[in-house]
Amino acid sequence: MSERVALVSGAARGIGLEVVRELASDGMTVFLGARDVAAGEAARAGLGEDLAARVVVVGLDITDDVSVAACAETIREHAGRLDVLVNNGGIILDRGESPLEVDFEIVRRTVDVNLFGAWRLTLAVLPLLREAAPARVINVSSGMGQLDEMGTISPGYRISKLGLNGLTRMLHSALFPQVSVNSICPGWVKTDMGGDGAYLSIADGADTILWLARMDSDALPSGGFYKRRVKIPW
Ligand SMILES: NC(=O)c1ccc[n+]([C@@H]2O[C@H](COP(=O)([O-])OP(=O)(O)OC[C@H]3O[C@@H](n4cnc5c(N)ncnc54)[C@H](OP(=O)(O)O)[C@@H]3O)[C@@H](O)[C@H]2O)c1
Repeated sequence: MSERVALVSGAARGIGLEVVRELASDGMTVFLGARDVAAGEAARAGLGEDLAARVVVVGLDITDDVSVAACAETIREHAGRLDVLVNNGGIILDRGESPLEVDFEIVRRTVDVNLFGAWRLTLAVLPLLREAAPARVINVSSGMGQLDEMGTISPGYRISKLGLNGLTRMLHSALFPQVSVNSICPGWVKTDMGGDGAYLSIADGADTILWLARMDSDALPSGGFYKRRVKIPW
């Protein structure tokens, strides 16, 4: 297989599904990671016949070592390489809480998905990224994980995304230039997570991810945090 290959976690809906749609329309082979394969297949069918032909649904729960290993194996068998990993799957469980009234079980579950999930998946597909070098990892973080802006609501979500940004820096140091690794903040996006009050469309929310996924390798930055295609402070 000579065309470029991408994997997007948490891609049966929201920002992840939009990234799948756009990368498939670029002509990439896209693995659509979904916890619920039936939901993933329904999302794939909704892309229309032409795009669906470029999309492979793969069961993927990023908290589960077995699921993650099976996903990597599926990509190895079908494609043998991975050019773009989008660590998109994520949850927010503590919308009102402050760090002074924290439920550590909620923090633990959030970190398990948003930080350990992205870390686990990246390590599982690393041999495939190396096969495609120069390859890229795009970690879908949040301004709520920005030290520069650190507030109080949703401490579990904030600490998970702060950790994800730390992972971006560590993996950049360990892997660049073979693999470039960046964090992005999509902004406040109208998805199930963002809710109706959000001001950005799903297409706008996917834009910075797609900008990094599409950029020429020669120009591709690494080790940074981007929002609306602009580098922002950690
Ligand atoms: N929307 C915003 O305003 C906003 C702002 C900043 C950052 N973000 C980030 O953007 C990313 C996408 O969010 P979204 O707005 O598109 O939210 P969403 O519509 O709620 O989608 C979240 C996705 O993550 C998946 N997911 C949850 N737990 C998972 C697990 N254990 N393994 C694999 N996938 C899992 C979900 O899968 P299921 O369908 O199986 O539940 C779903 O596909 C997240 O990382 C989020 O933190 C969003």
